[in-house]
Amino acid sequence: MDAKSGGTTDKKTAAGRLTVGNKNYDFPVYSGSIGPDVIDIAKLYGESGMFTYDPGFTSTASCESKITYIDGDAGVLLYRGYPIEQLAEHGDFLETCYLLLYGELPTPTQKADFDYRVNRHTMVHEQMSRFFQGFRRDAHPMAVLVGSVGALSAFYHDSTDISDPHQRMIASIRMIAKIPTLSAMAYKYSVGQPFVYPKNDLDYASNFLRMCFAVPTEDYTANPVLARAMDRIFILHADHEQNASTSTVRLAGSSGANPFACIAAGCACLWGPAHGGANEAALNMLGEIARPERIPEFVKRAKDKNDSFRLMGFGHRVYKNYDPRAKILQQTCHEVLNELGIKDDPLLEVAMELEKVALHDDYFLEKKLYPNVDFYSGITLKAMGFPTTMFTVLFALARTVGWIAQWKEMIEDPKQKIGRPRQLYTGATRRDYVPISRRK
Ligand code: SDX
Repeated sequence: MDAKSGGTTDKKTAAGRLTVGNKNYDFPVYSGSIGPDVIDIAKLYGESGMFTYDPGFTSTASCESKITYIDGDAGVLLYRGYPIEQLAEHGDFLETCYLLLYGELPTPTQKADFDYRVNRHTMVHEQMSRFFQGFRRDAHPMAVLVGSVGALSAFYHDSTDISDPHQRMIASIRMIAKIPTLSAMAYKYSVGQPFVYPKNDLDYASNFLRMCFAVPTEDYTANPVLARAMDRIFILHADHEQNASTSTVRLAGSSGANPFACIAAGCACLWGPAHGGANEAALNMLGEIARPERIPEFVKRAKDKNDSFRLMGFGHRVYKNYDPRAKILQQTCHEVLNELGIKDDPLLEVAMELEKVALHDDYFLEKKLYPNVDFYSGITLKAMGFPTTMFTVLFALARTVGWIAQWKEMIEDPKQKIGRPRQLYTGATRRDYVPISRRK
């Protein structure tokens, strides 16, 4: 079945009418190829003197995009129309990168060329290694990643002219190629081991695992089962529509900031525990619960309005059904633990029991709170040897392709303009200055 590629904001499909008091305001309604229609309220302020008001953007479409589609009620996630389950099962991460960037699955020749181009950019400027020396060894790896990704704009001036399509693609390839190297360097720096250079005859995930876990004193070959699991985890985290960090990248890019600075802004936003930082927080929470018999105490706290505690790894702004990525991550978790001979992992036992309790609890059912992408990933990553402080770094590594694809789409959108939201002002009205001598 050919994918329906219709839908555009150039084609009005209906008229929306807003009535405020005794005044009517008419606005065009547009339909996408799938998903909710949108009401174009761009002229609202000019015609009514009013703004819309939507903190957290729960009902706001910030842009038109052809990259990723989510149906939160059905638990569906499509990258350029392809179901995430099929891409995770049949493809590899660089194929997903090509798909997100170019919009189509690559032919064998295109895939070989893309892999080659990425492999040509895996090294970072040698002076970057001295850049790391400025951090404390115990710095959180995300702090190091935000700093080092932003620093790329100090090294690669020849791909920061965003008006040049060729430089935009080079910057995109550079980001995809160098983010594993910088992520591994952040890890190595935190454990006081020497940096390991990329080896271009390895696949993307094996290369990354080797840069993280190889040491100069012995040979290292990535376990193929773990490398496949790592690659699949990258696919699952690659893009996710207009989430907080992607919206941050788009807003930063709308001012014309260079792509490296925009990706650094995305990393900073992802770090928050309500977003990409939830995988680290979820594992810490499972460790705090420690035993299945303590689950009721924590579920009670999660339901208590006076307690700020939340079940990390549960709930989602869009998914009001099971996050399709969580299902695949649960399967991947079992594969990795089996491969490593880890039986009866206490954290997995708590996670499975917590999921069972929560999915039968009226509070979670009523609020449609299901496990999300961050619930099982931490158990898998810990078993693979990563410290919890590296979990969000791995999320950022994978999401870099989504951020850069969305950034490119925004830059290449002829209707693109700088993002500049307004506000509902409830502060002090105009008043005159009082000299300090007259203040009581
Ligand atoms: C990611 O946007 C994306 O696509 C993000 C992401 C991606 O790939 O980019 O999917 C990655 O960020 C996944 C989410 C990871 N975050 C967590 O696991 C942190 C725990 N979850 C929550 O903080 C929360 O669910 C959010 C932030 C994910 C969503 O928050 P919303 O949509 O703003 O919903 P809300 O905070 O308004 O919650 C609705 C209700 C509230 O109760 P009421 O005020 O209506 O009574 O549900 C409750 C919340 O208190 N609630 C929870 C809960 N999450 C929401 N109660 C207990 N435990 C939770 N985890």
